[in-house]
Amino acid sequence: MTTPAHEVHAAVQARYAQIATTFTPEIQANCGCDDTTCCPTGPDLYDTSLADLPADVTQLSLGCGDPITLAGLQPGQTVLDLGSGGGIDCFLAARQVGASGRVIGIDMTPAMLDKANANKAKMGADNVEFRLGQIEALPVADASVDVVISNCVINLSPDKAAVFAEALRVLRPGGKLAVSDMVTQGQFSPAARADLAAWSACVTGAEDISVYASLMRAAGFQQISIQDKGAPGIELADALLLPTPPRLFSARITAVKP
Ligand SMILES: C[S@@+](CC[C@H](N)C(=O)[O-])C[C@H]1O[C@@H](n2cnc3c(N)ncnc32)[C@H](O)[C@@H]1O
Repeated sequence: MTTPAHEVHAAVQARYAQIATTFTPEIQANCGCDDTTCCPTGPDLYDTSLADLPADVTQLSLGCGDPITLAGLQPGQTVLDLGSGGGIDCFLAARQVGASGRVIGIDMTPAMLDKANANKAKMGADNVEFRLGQIEALPVADASVDVVISNCVINLSPDKAAVFAEALRVLRPGGKLAVSDMVTQGQFSPAARADLAAWSACVTGAEDISVYASLMRAAGFQQISIQDKGAPGIELADALLLPTPPRLFSARITAVKP
């Protein structure tokens, strides 16, 4: 039996509210997680310099990759971040799109939005806006965004088809999707998926790459690329669904709205 979507959302929200309200550098140092889960991983994920970001932003980095480098942003663009957390990718994107561009971060956890807005005030990031909402039903107008980014969030969604349909809806024609996410080769069992602690830790919600790519295709995305962050250059978007125990890894995912 599949866990109802509202129960998945509640478990995920509880985990990230707790991280937002109790997180300290000591927790980060003692977390015991590595780069394969989205426990706080710190700033080591990024190719981009984080030198001008406050510690409150870099210490609340919960991603599994660097969607900013993947996105190749240009001045003046409008960027949407799915599951913006403490805002690290929004602030990095804001630096690249400049004063003539804008960045919108969406997150369903009010405590995370509070952190993000406090960070925004501290940085004076006037071209960044955070909105409360679910990535399966984006509070964003049709065809209003140039680039959709996301960092370790789509795996947490119980309805990934809806996430890709919404991302496509809000992108302008020719717009780009640039995502870091946890994915698998092979699928988790229904019993593993029912473990909401593991799901919320970015493990058992992760989807097989062939299924992930087919959901993106079904939504209408083209030029889909999925590559293992640890083995870049090898294209996995056309991989077959293998009946193997799932191998979990962080992937670099890009696609274009036709
Ligand atoms: C692993 S953290 C990543 C945060 C941020 N992207 C980063 O790299 O630091 C996941 C974030 O996504 C949010 N989130 C998870 N599922 C969501 C959903 N269905 N809709 C909106 N936000 C969601 C959580 O509240 C949390 O802030």
